Amino acid sequence: MQYDDLLQLVAKRRSVRAFKSDPVPDEYIDKIIEVARWAPSGANTQPWEFVVIRNKKLKEKIVDILAEDEVTSHKMEMTREPELRHPGPANRKPGARPNYANAPVLILVCGDHRTKEGMTVNAIYNHGPDGLQHFASGLASAFLYIQLAATSLGLGSRWVSAVNNPLPQVQIKQLLGIPKEVMVYDMTPIGYPAPLPASEQRMRARRKAEEMTHRDGYEKAKYRTAEQIKEFLKKVHGREGARLGGKN
Ligand SMILES: Cc1cc2nc3c(=O)[nH]c(=O)nc-3n(C[C@H](O)[C@H](O)[C@H](O)COP(=O)(O)O)c2cc1C
Repeated sequence: MQYDDLLQLVAKRRSVRAFKSDPVPDEYIDKIIEVARWAPSGANTQPWEFVVIRNKKLKEKIVDILAEDEVTSHKMEMTREPELRHPGPANRKPGARPNYANAPVLILVCGDHRTKEGMTVNAIYNHGPDGLQHFASGLASAFLYIQLAATSLGLGSRWVSAVNNPLPQVQIKQLLGIPKEVMVYDMTPIGYPAPLPASEQRMRARRKAEEMTHRDGYEKAKYRTAEQIKEFLKKVHGREGARLGGKN
């Protein structure tokens, strides 16, 4: 693969928040997981377990659990300074179904805490509580590989982080029989993306490479004040808000 192919793939990947209900072949899910298992992980501990949900009733139950959690999430978001509110939960309409509800497949990326024993003592004791940093970084890598593989197959995906909020975590684990040592890290719906409105296609803010690259030390001129960061976040959330259209 050439650099330009890679750049094209990563630029094509985006968080898909509206799906068609068209079926996704099993073979594609296998291909996605084949890619994910090559992800890097601390000390090659490979903490991941992928729980693939296709069963309609199970999917509905998971969506119900998360819809309920979104109500709480909305209330929590409304306690924040208005300008910094995340547009997803903040704009949530009462009774709205999560926008991945009709995706044909859900993949839960889970991590087995016991694999942390295989990391270096430094990683276990110093990198976040109980080695959580390395553990989560490995899971995040696998998650991203899933997203890239899905993109290469013409499929959409997105992070549904609410699965690791305390109540949904317990509810989903009970529903699916996930053992207590195994954490539900995150979830992605997998499905064919619904066409994006033209306005949304333009909304994809990224900082410029030059602004974030520091050569031979941290370049003071590029140090951002807290105010600048806040301004930046407001801008991003403003655009994202338009992109989400209050439907998340
Ligand atoms: C750790 C992490 C958690 C995220 N959680 C959510 C989420 O719960 N819901 C959601 O809609 N997007 C979530 N996202 C997606 C981001 O909002 C998205 O990546 C960002 O807005 C950039 O847009 P893009 O992915 O289309 O490039 C998450 C992304 C990351 C890396």
